[in-house]
Amino acid sequence: MKLSRILSNRDGVSRKRANALIAAGRVTVNGEPCRVPSQDVDRFSTVRLDEPVIQSGDTAHYLMLHKPVGYLSATVDDVHTTVLDLIDSTLRPDLHIAGRLDRASTGLLVLTNDGSWSRQLTEPTIKLPKVYRVSTALPITPETAERFAEGIWFEFEQLRTSPATLELIGPKDARVTIYEGRYHQVKRMFHAVGNRITSLHRERMGEIELDAALAPGDYRRLTAREIHAVRSASPESHLVQS
Ligand code: URA
Repeated sequence: MKLSRILSNRDGVSRKRANALIAAGRVTVNGEPCRVPSQDVDRFSTVRLDEPVIQSGDTAHYLMLHKPVGYLSATVDDVHTTVLDLIDSTLRPDLHIAGRLDRASTGLLVLTNDGSWSRQLTEPTIKLPKVYRVSTALPITPETAERFAEGIWFEFEQLRTSPATLELIGPKDARVTIYEGRYHQVKRMFHAVGNRITSLHRERMGEIELDAALAPGDYRRLTAREIHAVRSASPESHLVQS
């Protein structure tokens, strides 16, 4: 929300008066004076006029979970246990999932209550690498890497996936890096080349790597460095990261 709007949401402060107070340098955002009425201020920021608190910031949560098999990537479900059931109940309200995993898939799952941050992580145009370890039903052919690099045509969305990389680890095992996160994307890419995934494990999203110390079902808070890496990601990030 714009800073002037936050101020003028208070009883008796007109938008004009809010602009004047801001221009006079009497308003701080997280302790820093801000003289720009149109400045966007999120709900996690603390806004003060002179000294009194106008908005006391909500606490932002950023978590990585080692998702086990069988948990649904949803916040509520009538039938299945969800990944939220693995999170302490005091942290649950407001959390959402930044990039789902299928119920049978395992590995890195990121949860947060900061919507603009999670959009940075999942937005296809930002093209952060998402790295998966996969096993397949049939041997992986040499053409598979070429087809993934060319991009696979997805009829339903009428689009071609961004060039993806495939590193062969064994005849039926590979590490795949994609730069979007479309519905069942990796499964559908293998299906398009006549193969089938038997297991899928996410190792990394951008700079956030699944912590080897986390057993399936465990989670931890992201570090300041991991949080910042997502915030500073731009559409060209993948060119320097990979
Ligand atoms: N692609 C898939 O097919 N499944 C996942 O869980 C994640 C990416």
